[in-house]
Amino acid sequence: MSEQPAWHDSPLMKAVRREPVERTPVWLMRQAGRYMAEYAEVRRRTSFIELCRSPELCAEVMLTAVERLGVDAAILFSDLLLILQPMGLGLEYTPGDGPVLHNPIRTAADLDRLGEVRSLDSLEYVFEAVRRTRAGLDERLPLIGFAGAPFTLAAYAIEGGSSRNYAHTKRMMFADPGVWHELMGRIGRSVARLLIGQLQAGAQVVQLFDSWVGCLSPDDYRQFALPHTRSVIEEVSHHGPVIHFGTGNPALIGPMAEAGGQVMGVDWRIRLDEAWSSIGDGWAVQGNLDPTVLLTDPPTIRRHVRAILDQVAGRPGHIFNLGHGVLPQTPVENAVALVEAVHAG
Ligand code: CP3
Repeated sequence: MSEQPAWHDSPLMKAVRREPVERTPVWLMRQAGRYMAEYAEVRRRTSFIELCRSPELCAEVMLTAVERLGVDAAILFSDLLLILQPMGLGLEYTPGDGPVLHNPIRTAADLDRLGEVRSLDSLEYVFEAVRRTRAGLDERLPLIGFAGAPFTLAAYAIEGGSSRNYAHTKRMMFADPGVWHELMGRIGRSVARLLIGQLQAGAQVVQLFDSWVGCLSPDDYRQFALPHTRSVIEEVSHHGPVIHFGTGNPALIGPMAEAGGQVMGVDWRIRLDEAWSSIGDGWAVQGNLDPTVLLTDPPTIRRHVRAILDQVAGRPGHIFNLGHGVLPQTPVENAVALVEAVHAG
């Protein structure tokens, strides 16, 4: 039997396979970011897009965060929206306003401007960041790749930026289902290639972020989003395990599980024991501390960690995480206290 790399039996990879672990693995969505002084220092010299395009800096920023926090996994430093650039959209990160896409897709004619990513040459810098991060990372720690789920990326492409009601997105979905499904298909096939490329470059597992999906009803999710997410997960699963993360709507957990994958990522709007009862013990579950708890103090953080671990009640297959990304105003010491509290059990 060939010897497995050290990360194979890491707590996180064991939890992905629902094997028992000595201590619960923990990592944080957005664990490298503005709340960390070392990151802010890099950003003083470099724009966010330049940072994402520099494999060396991506690796540095993530490895620094992993070391500072003592987490059980690294996630690729990159961004959800970068894939929309080679597909034909103008992407800009404006300080204060968040990301802006300059020529959003609103009509069938606009769709001509959105090409599928077929060759991965345009995303080579992402794969190089995977290789560099993997090379610099402790061999016992897994590296997580990621991409946006088709719904969230389509909504960004259609709205052109953040949105309250997703009005353009839903209008297209309900009024032009043919255009909608064509758009989702192009995005989904591009995302599958991106994730497979990350796994081939050295990531051990990938996470699909459906950050905006919570605005859909279960029936609309099944009709308009599920088939595309299912195709992505089906393709990618031949190459590695998939964490499927959604936020905003606990009623979607059942429908999201129909898309497949190994780990369901949930936010704080559902209890973890209820999450398991809705989708069954065949799943690993990731989550789900409310990120605002990290704005309090270590005793409060420990109390919330205890409550989550009590809901898990020793089931195999729990990966501790926040229910959504670290907030920019989070004190780093509190993030460290969280990791320590999870490890203390
Ligand atoms: O988790 C990590 O530490 C890895 C890196 C990572 C980033 N973005 C870096 C980033 C990951 C996994 C993401 C995912 C991402 N990007 C999501 C899904 C997660 C979620 O929060 O729902 C989304 C929706 C995006 C799109 C995006 N990128 C937004 C809305 C913003 C601006 C708002 C914000 O929080 O700053 C970004 C910028 C971004 N992506 C930053 C970082 C560290 C901040 C850039 C900066 O100002 O330095």
